[in-house]
Amino acid sequence: MFNNFANVWTIIGHASALGNAKPIGLSVAGERIVLFRDAAQKPVALLDQCPHRGVALSLGRVKGGEIECPFHGWRFNGAGVNCATPFNPDAKRQYLHAQPLPLREDRGLLWLYTGFEPDAEPDFPETFSLKNTLICAQQTIWRAHWTRVMENMLDMPHLPFVHRRTIGKDLTQKIDQRMDVFWRERPYGARIDGAINGEPRMGALEYRYPNLMELLIDPPGRIFRLMAICLPQDDTTTKLILLTIRDFARWPILNPIFRIMNQRIANEDKRIIESALPREVPEPSEEASLRTDAPTLAFRRIYRQKLQGSSATPPVRQAAP
Ligand code: FES
Ligand SMILES: [Fe+2]
Repeated sequence: MFNNFANVWTIIGHASALGNAKPIGLSVAGERIVLFRDAAQKPVALLDQCPHRGVALSLGRVKGGEIECPFHGWRFNGAGVNCATPFNPDAKRQYLHAQPLPLREDRGLLWLYTGFEPDAEPDFPETFSLKNTLICAQQTIWRAHWTRVMENMLDMPHLPFVHRRTIGKDLTQKIDQRMDVFWRERPYGARIDGAINGEPRMGALEYRYPNLMELLIDPPGRIFRLMAICLPQDDTTTKLILLTIRDFARWPILNPIFRIMNQRIANEDKRIIESALPREVPEPSEEASLRTDAPTLAFRRIYRQKLQGSSATPPVRQAAP
Protein backbone atom coordinates (compact mmCIF):
# COMPACT_ATOMS: atom_id res chain seq x y z
CA MET A 1 0.00 0.00 0.00
CA PHE A 2 0.99 3.66 -0.45
CA ASN A 3 3.25 2.48 -3.25
CA ASN A 4 6.20 4.79 -3.98
CA PHE A 5 5.24 7.02 -1.05
CA ALA A 6 5.27 4.66 1.93
CA ASN A 7 6.26 5.19 5.55
CA VAL A 8 6.48 8.96 5.60
CA TRP A 9 4.58 11.70 7.42
CA THR A 10 2.82 14.23 5.24
CA ILE A 11 0.48 17.15 5.78
CA ILE A 12 -2.88 16.22 4.24
CA GLY A 13 -4.92 19.34 4.97
CA HIS A 14 -6.39 21.60 7.60
CA ALA A 15 -8.55 20.29 10.44
CA SER A 16 -11.00 23.18 10.15
CA ALA A 17 -12.61 21.38 7.21
CA LEU A 18 -13.54 18.47 9.49
CA GLY A 19 -16.88 18.79 11.30
CA ASN A 20 -18.51 16.45 13.82
CA ALA A 21 -21.12 14.73 11.69
CA LYS A 22 -19.61 14.34 8.25
CA PRO A 23 -16.53 12.27 7.51
CA ILE A 24 -14.12 13.34 4.80
CA GLY A 25 -12.77 10.90 2.23
CA LEU A 26 -9.51 11.55 0.42
CA SER A 27 -6.89 9.72 -1.62
CA VAL A 28 -3.28 9.56 -0.55
CA ALA A 29 -0.74 7.77 -2.75
CA GLY A 30 -3.40 5.57 -4.28
CA GLU A 31 -5.13 4.62 -1.01
CA ARG A 32 -8.54 5.73 0.18
CA ILE A 33 -8.57 7.33 3.61
CA VAL A 34 -11.49 8.48 5.76
CA LEU A 35 -11.12 11.22 8.35
CA PHE A 36 -13.57 11.98 11.16
CA ARG A 37 -13.63 13.26 14.73
CA ASP A 38 -13.75 10.67 17.50
CA ALA A 39 -15.72 10.96 20.78
CA ALA A 40 -13.02 13.30 22.16
CA GLN A 41 -13.29 15.50 19.01
CA LYS A 42 -9.83 14.40 17.96
CA PRO A 43 -9.31 13.95 14.19
CA VAL A 44 -8.67 10.29 13.33
CA ALA A 45 -7.99 8.33 10.13
CA LEU A 46 -8.99 4.86 8.96
CA LEU A 47 -8.51 3.12 5.65
CA ASP A 48 -11.67 3.99 3.77
CA GLN A 49 -12.68 0.42 3.19
CA CYS A 50 -15.16 -1.41 5.39
CA PRO A 51 -13.75 -4.79 6.54
CA HIS A 52 -17.18 -6.33 5.81
CA ARG A 53 -17.68 -5.71 2.08
CA GLY A 54 -15.06 -3.14 1.21
CA VAL A 55 -17.29 -0.13 0.63
CA ALA A 56 -16.21 3.42 1.44
CA LEU A 57 -16.85 4.28 5.07
CA SER A 58 -16.63 7.94 4.05
CA LEU A 59 -20.10 7.55 2.48
CA GLY A 60 -21.48 6.86 5.96
CA ARG A 61 -22.13 9.17 8.87
CA VAL A 62 -20.50 9.88 12.19
CA LYS A 63 -22.50 9.22 15.36
CA GLY A 64 -21.06 9.98 18.77
CA GLY A 65 -17.51 9.84 17.48
CA GLU A 66 -18.00 6.52 15.65
CA ILE A 67 -18.24 6.13 11.91
CA GLU A 68 -21.16 4.09 10.64
CA CYS A 69 -20.71 2.10 7.45
CA PRO A 70 -23.32 3.14 4.85
CA PHE A 71 -23.96 -0.49 3.79
CA HIS A 72 -24.90 -2.59 6.86
CA GLY A 73 -24.28 -0.11 9.64
CA TRP A 74 -21.20 -1.57 11.31
CA ARG A 75 -19.68 1.14 13.47
CA PHE A 76 -16.02 1.86 14.21
CA ASN A 77 -14.31 4.21 16.62
CA GLY A 78 -11.18 6.22 15.90
CA ALA A 79 -8.94 3.23 16.69
CA GLY A 80 -10.85 1.09 14.20
CA VAL A 81 -12.52 -0.93 16.98
CA ASN A 82 -15.86 -2.38 15.91
CA CYS A 83 -18.58 -0.98 18.18
CA ALA A 84 -21.74 -2.30 16.47
CA THR A 85 -22.83 -5.09 14.10
CA PRO A 86 -26.60 -4.62 13.53
CA PHE A 87 -28.77 -7.79 13.64
CA ASN A 88 -25.76 -9.74 14.96
CA PRO A 89 -25.56 -9.08 18.69
CA ASP A 90 -23.51 -12.26 19.12
CA ALA A 91 -20.78 -11.26 16.59
CA LYS A 92 -17.17 -11.51 17.75
CA ARG A 93 -16.56 -7.86 17.14
CA GLN A 94 -12.92 -7.93 18.25
CA TYR A 95 -12.12 -9.67 14.93
CA LEU A 96 -14.13 -7.28 12.79
CA HIS A 97 -12.15 -4.08 13.13
CA ALA A 98 -11.29 -1.41 10.56
CA GLN A 99 -7.71 -0.37 9.87
CA PRO A 100 -6.55 2.79 11.69
CA LEU A 101 -3.78 5.02 10.36
CA PRO A 102 -1.49 7.28 12.39
CA LEU A 103 -2.75 10.88 12.32
CA ARG A 104 -1.53 13.94 14.21
CA GLU A 105 -2.77 17.49 14.49
CA ASP A 106 -0.40 20.43 14.91
CA ARG A 107 -1.56 24.03 14.67
CA GLY A 108 -4.69 22.83 12.93
CA LEU A 109 -2.75 20.95 10.27
CA LEU A 110 -3.34 17.23 9.86
CA TRP A 111 -0.33 14.94 9.38
CA LEU A 112 -0.89 11.40 8.13
CA TYR A 113 1.60 8.56 8.19
CA THR A 114 1.59 6.54 4.98
CA GLY A 115 2.12 3.27 6.81
CA PHE A 116 1.06 1.58 10.00
CA GLU A 117 3.79 1.81 12.61
CA PRO A 118 5.78 5.05 12.49
CA ASP A 119 9.20 4.87 14.09
CA ALA A 120 9.18 8.64 14.76
CA GLU A 121 6.79 11.53 15.14
CA PRO A 122 6.38 14.09 12.33
CA ASP A 123 9.20 16.59 12.02
CA PHE A 124 7.14 19.78 12.41
CA PRO A 125 8.84 22.73 10.67
CA GLU A 126 10.06 25.37 13.13
CA THR A 127 7.95 27.95 11.35
CA PHE A 128 4.87 26.43 12.97
CA SER A 129 6.15 27.23 16.45
CA LEU A 130 6.80 30.92 15.71
CA LYS A 131 4.70 33.17 17.94
CA ASN A 132 1.84 35.38 16.78
CA THR A 133 1.61 33.88 13.34
CA LEU A 134 -1.48 33.09 11.35
CA ILE A 135 -1.69 30.15 8.96
CA CYS A 136 -3.81 30.58 5.85
CA ALA A 137 -4.42 27.33 3.94
CA GLN A 138 -5.67 26.62 0.44
CA GLN A 139 -5.49 23.69 -1.94
CA THR A 140 -5.81 22.84 -5.59
CA ILE A 141 -5.59 19.70 -7.71
CA TRP A 142 -2.99 19.34 -10.46
CA ARG A 143 -3.17 16.65 -13.10
CA ALA A 144 0.48 15.74 -12.69
CA HIS A 145 2.61 13.21 -10.85
CA TRP A 146 3.67 14.67 -7.49
CA THR A 147 7.38 14.39 -8.35
CA ARG A 148 6.95 16.85 -11.21
CA VAL A 149 5.09 19.25 -8.95
CA MET A 150 7.68 18.95 -6.19
CA GLU A 151 10.68 19.64 -8.36
CA ASN A 152 8.94 22.62 -9.88
CA MET A 153 8.73 24.07 -6.37
CA LEU A 154 12.52 23.76 -6.04
CA ASP A 155 13.33 25.24 -9.43
CA MET A 156 14.54 28.84 -9.81
CA PRO A 157 15.40 29.36 -13.52
CA HIS A 158 11.74 29.04 -14.54
CA LEU A 159 10.77 32.22 -12.69
CA PRO A 160 11.33 34.81 -15.49
CA PHE A 161 9.46 32.63 -17.99
CA VAL A 162 6.53 31.02 -16.19
CA HIS A 163 6.12 33.96 -13.80
CA ARG A 164 7.28 36.83 -15.97
CA ARG A 165 4.31 38.96 -14.95
CA THR A 166 4.45 38.13 -11.24
CA ILE A 167 7.26 36.86 -9.01
CA GLY A 168 9.72 36.43 -11.88
CA LYS A 169 9.45 39.94 -13.29
CA ASP A 170 12.78 41.23 -11.88
CA LEU A 171 14.64 38.27 -13.37
CA THR A 172 13.46 38.88 -16.91
CA GLN A 173 16.24 41.50 -17.34
CA LYS A 174 18.91 39.11 -16.08
CA ILE A 175 18.62 36.00 -18.15
CA ASP A 176 21.94 36.68 -19.90
CA GLN A 177 23.76 36.62 -16.59
CA ARG A 178 24.98 33.62 -14.64
CA MET A 179 22.70 31.99 -12.11
CA ASP A 180 24.07 29.74 -9.39
CA VAL A 181 21.93 27.53 -7.22
CA PHE A 182 23.28 25.87 -4.11
CA TRP A 183 21.74 22.72 -2.68
CA ARG A 184 22.91 22.34 0.90
CA GLU A 185 21.89 19.21 2.69
CA ARG A 186 20.21 19.56 6.05
CA PRO A 187 18.91 16.95 8.51
CA TYR A 188 15.34 17.65 7.32
CA GLY A 189 16.20 17.85 3.60
CA ALA A 190 18.05 20.77 2.08
CA ARG A 191 18.35 24.50 1.84
CA ILE A 192 18.51 26.03 -1.61
CA ASP A 193 20.08 29.44 -2.19
CA GLY A 194 20.38 31.28 -5.45
CA ALA A 195 22.72 33.95 -6.78
CA ILE A 196 22.88 36.02 -9.95
CA ASN A 197 26.42 37.00 -11.01
CA GLY A 198 27.56 36.09 -7.52
CA GLU A 199 24.94 38.33 -5.83
CA PRO A 200 22.78 36.29 -3.42
CA ARG A 201 19.09 36.54 -4.16
CA MET A 202 16.59 37.50 -1.54
CA GLY A 203 14.59 34.67 -0.12
CA ALA A 204 15.74 31.10 0.31
CA LEU A 205 14.01 27.81 -0.29
CA GLU A 206 13.90 24.89 2.06
CA TYR A 207 13.11 21.36 0.97
CA ARG A 208 11.68 19.21 3.73
CA TYR A 209 11.56 15.51 3.00
CA PRO A 210 9.48 14.10 1.49
CA ASN A 211 7.13 16.62 -0.12
CA LEU A 212 7.29 20.08 1.45
CA MET A 213 8.85 23.27 0.12
CA GLU A 214 9.14 26.34 2.28
CA LEU A 215 9.87 29.75 0.85
CA LEU A 216 11.27 32.24 3.32
CA ILE A 217 10.46 35.78 2.29
CA ASP A 218 10.56 37.49 5.70
CA PRO A 219 10.53 41.27 5.23
CA PRO A 220 12.73 43.06 7.82
CA GLY A 221 11.40 42.33 11.31
CA ARG A 222 8.50 40.27 9.99
CA ILE A 223 7.63 36.66 9.35
CA PHE A 224 6.30 35.75 5.94
CA ARG A 225 6.59 32.18 4.71
CA LEU A 226 4.97 30.19 1.99
CA MET A 227 4.77 26.42 2.14
CA ALA A 228 3.81 24.09 -0.67
CA ILE A 229 2.95 20.48 0.12
CA CYS A 230 2.80 18.19 -2.91
CA LEU A 231 0.47 15.41 -1.81
CA PRO A 232 0.22 12.48 -4.22
CA GLN A 233 -3.40 11.42 -4.66
CA ASP A 234 -2.58 8.73 -7.20
CA ASP A 235 -0.21 8.30 -10.13
CA THR A 236 -1.76 11.09 -12.16
CA THR A 237 -3.02 13.72 -9.71
CA THR A 238 -1.48 15.78 -6.95
CA LYS A 239 -3.16 17.87 -4.30
CA LEU A 240 -1.12 21.03 -3.89
CA ILE A 241 -1.64 22.43 -0.41
CA LEU A 242 -0.41 26.00 0.03
CA LEU A 243 0.10 27.58 3.43
CA THR A 244 0.84 31.24 3.98
CA ILE A 245 2.30 31.93 7.42
CA ARG A 246 2.57 35.56 8.50
CA ASP A 247 2.83 37.68 11.63
CA PHE A 248 1.47 40.87 10.07
CA ALA A 249 -1.92 41.78 8.60
CA ARG A 250 -3.25 39.10 10.90
CA TRP A 251 -6.94 39.68 10.33
CA PRO A 252 -8.36 36.51 8.79
CA ILE A 253 -10.54 38.76 6.65
CA LEU A 254 -7.37 39.47 4.62
CA ASN A 255 -6.80 35.76 3.88
CA PRO A 256 -8.62 35.90 0.53
CA ILE A 257 -6.10 38.44 -0.75
CA PHE A 258 -3.21 36.09 0.02
CA ARG A 259 -5.13 33.18 -1.46
CA ILE A 260 -5.81 35.02 -4.72
CA MET A 261 -2.13 35.95 -5.06
CA ASN A 262 -0.98 32.38 -4.39
CA GLN A 263 -3.58 30.94 -6.72
CA ARG A 264 -2.50 33.20 -9.54
CA ILE A 265 1.15 32.18 -9.21
CA ALA A 266 0.31 28.49 -8.78
CA ASN A 267 -1.89 28.55 -11.87
CA GLU A 268 1.03 29.91 -13.89
CA ASP A 269 3.01 26.78 -12.94
CA LYS A 270 0.10 24.35 -13.19
CA ARG A 271 -0.52 24.81 -16.89
CA ILE A 272 3.11 24.13 -17.72
CA ILE A 273 3.77 21.27 -15.32
CA GLU A 274 0.64 19.36 -16.32
CA SER A 275 2.08 19.14 -19.83
CA ALA A 276 5.29 17.33 -18.77
CA LEU A 277 5.96 13.86 -20.17
CA PRO A 278 6.57 11.28 -18.92
CA ARG A 279 4.24 11.83 -15.98
CA GLU A 280 6.60 10.55 -13.32
CA VAL A 281 10.11 12.00 -13.33
CA PRO A 282 12.34 9.79 -15.50
CA GLU A 283 15.88 8.50 -15.08
CA PRO A 284 18.44 11.35 -15.36
CA SER A 285 19.76 10.05 -18.67
CA GLU A 286 16.34 10.40 -20.30
CA GLU A 287 16.25 14.20 -20.00
CA ALA A 288 18.81 16.88 -20.73
CA SER A 289 19.91 18.83 -17.67
CA LEU A 290 22.10 21.80 -16.77
CA ARG A 291 24.01 23.15 -13.79
CA THR A 292 20.98 25.12 -12.54
CA ASP A 293 19.00 21.87 -12.37
CA ALA A 294 20.98 20.76 -9.31
CA PRO A 295 18.00 20.90 -6.90
CA THR A 296 15.81 18.96 -9.32
CA LEU A 297 18.43 16.27 -9.74
CA ALA A 298 19.10 16.11 -5.99
CA PHE A 299 15.38 15.69 -5.30
CA ARG A 300 15.16 12.94 -7.90
CA ARG A 301 18.02 11.09 -6.24
CA ILE A 302 16.24 11.23 -2.91
CA TYR A 303 13.01 10.06 -4.52
CA ARG A 304 14.73 7.16 -6.22
CA GLN A 305 16.65 6.10 -3.11
CA LYS A 306 13.96 6.45 -0.50
CA LEU A 307 10.50 6.41 -2.01
CA GLN A 308 10.39 4.81 -5.43
CA GLY A 309 9.55 1.15 -4.90
CA SER A 310 8.49 1.66 -1.27
CA SER A 311 5.27 0.15 0.06
CA ALA A 312 3.59 -0.46 3.41
CA THR A 313 2.02 -3.70 4.57
CA PRO A 314 -1.00 -3.58 6.86
CA PRO A 315 -0.92 -5.78 9.97
CA VAL A 316 -2.34 -9.26 9.31
CA ARG A 317 -6.00 -9.53 10.20
CA GLN A 318 -6.56 -12.03 12.99
CA ALA A 319 -9.17 -14.61 12.03
CA ALA A 320 -11.95 -15.47 14.46
CA PRO A 321 -11.29 -18.83 16.16
S1 FES B 1 -19.99 -3.27 4.04
FE1 FES B 1 -19.71 -2.15 5.83
S2 FES B 1 -21.14 -2.99 7.16
FE2 FES B 1 -21.33 -4.21 5.42
FE1 LIG C 1 6.74 28.45 -10.23
